[in-house]
Amino acid sequence: MSARSDRVGRSGARTYSKHEVLNRFVGKEIAVINTPRIAQLPEPLRRLVWIDLTAGDAALQAETDDWRKSCSPGILAYHASWARNTKPVEVLLVEKNHDTYEILLDNLTVRLLELGYEQIKPNQWVHVGQRGGRVTLQVLRCNSLELPVSFLRRSDAVLLLNDPNGVPTWAMRDSLPAEISERTTFFRSFSTLGWNVAGAKAWATREDRIQRYDLITPQIDNLGARRDLCLAWTDRDDAQWSYLLETPRVWRDQTDEEIRSAFGRNALDVEIAWYGQDPNRFRHARMRMALTKVEYRAVRGRAAEWDAADYERRYELLGPEVKPAPKPRQPTQLGTLFDLD
Ligand SMILES: C[S@@+](CC[C@H](N)C(=O)[O-])C[C@H]1O[C@@H](n2cnc3c(N)ncnc32)[C@H](O)[C@@H]1O
Repeated sequence: MSARSDRVGRSGARTYSKHEVLNRFVGKEIAVINTPRIAQLPEPLRRLVWIDLTAGDAALQAETDDWRKSCSPGILAYHASWARNTKPVEVLLVEKNHDTYEILLDNLTVRLLELGYEQIKPNQWVHVGQRGGRVTLQVLRCNSLELPVSFLRRSDAVLLLNDPNGVPTWAMRDSLPAEISERTTFFRSFSTLGWNVAGAKAWATREDRIQRYDLITPQIDNLGARRDLCLAWTDRDDAQWSYLLETPRVWRDQTDEEIRSAFGRNALDVEIAWYGQDPNRFRHARMRMALTKVEYRAVRGRAAEWDAADYERRYELLGPEVKPAPKPRQPTQLGTLFDLD
């Protein structure tokens, strides 16, 4: 283990790696949008719209001293204020919990000032960069499942973050990928999936687990010709956190490398499956993450049949339901949880 992961522990290392990947994901967006190549597009991009569906409290994490890289609001605010940016950026931070929202505003009031933002309303800040890029950062207290996106335009490049505390609080409504994709083709997203937080998978009903497999179907259905979707997960992770990145196909190799290096620096091995490149491996990863080990074993080798099946048929394919006996949680579990052979 590296010094850093010794210091922060396994779950800290995971969060640290998540923010490191996210930092690069967002940094790439603002850098590429400001290249001459993008200015020459037949329909130039005029605005960046960054939506964080699950902002959280933007508190400085215990294991870091750099706010700009250790929470999603910090990462967005920092990159939006890049001195060389020339485009308007709309940053929308959404938080549904009342107390968390209040803490978020308090933290932003202190931190955004340090980044050169000016507060113009209790929940709104602006920043004007040296090359004219104007950022408007707004915080909304509402449920992201109800967030309207009708304001999006064809000339917008949209970045969407979805980092709930687990699968049951998935904050992206089913229709959102379609609603965004029909307004603009420049759309990237980053989601966190915790399939088994606190053993949640075993306690969920089988119906829930079947539905969880379909959680990301709306994104697959709306990928279009230019984008791909990758699932990245860490080995030996009891909570089965995984990361779902939607990004242009041409950035597949770079994204792969960025994810591996971010997790590798924190001594975490990461597995990656791209939907467009290896749909079979991707499908198996989805199945393994959504289903219990016993259920997964029952349908392994019948993945295509599973995919084509309706809910009733899937229930049958999984065989008789075996409720796993509750077991005491172990701090560390050896062996891989995602054996896809
Ligand atoms: C894991 S935390 C977010 C951490 C943050 N993304 C970061 O990286 O610093 C999840 C937050 O999302 C909020 N949340 C969950 N579901 C939501 C929803 N549907 N709408 C708005 N906020 C939501 C929770 O209240 C919680 O504060």
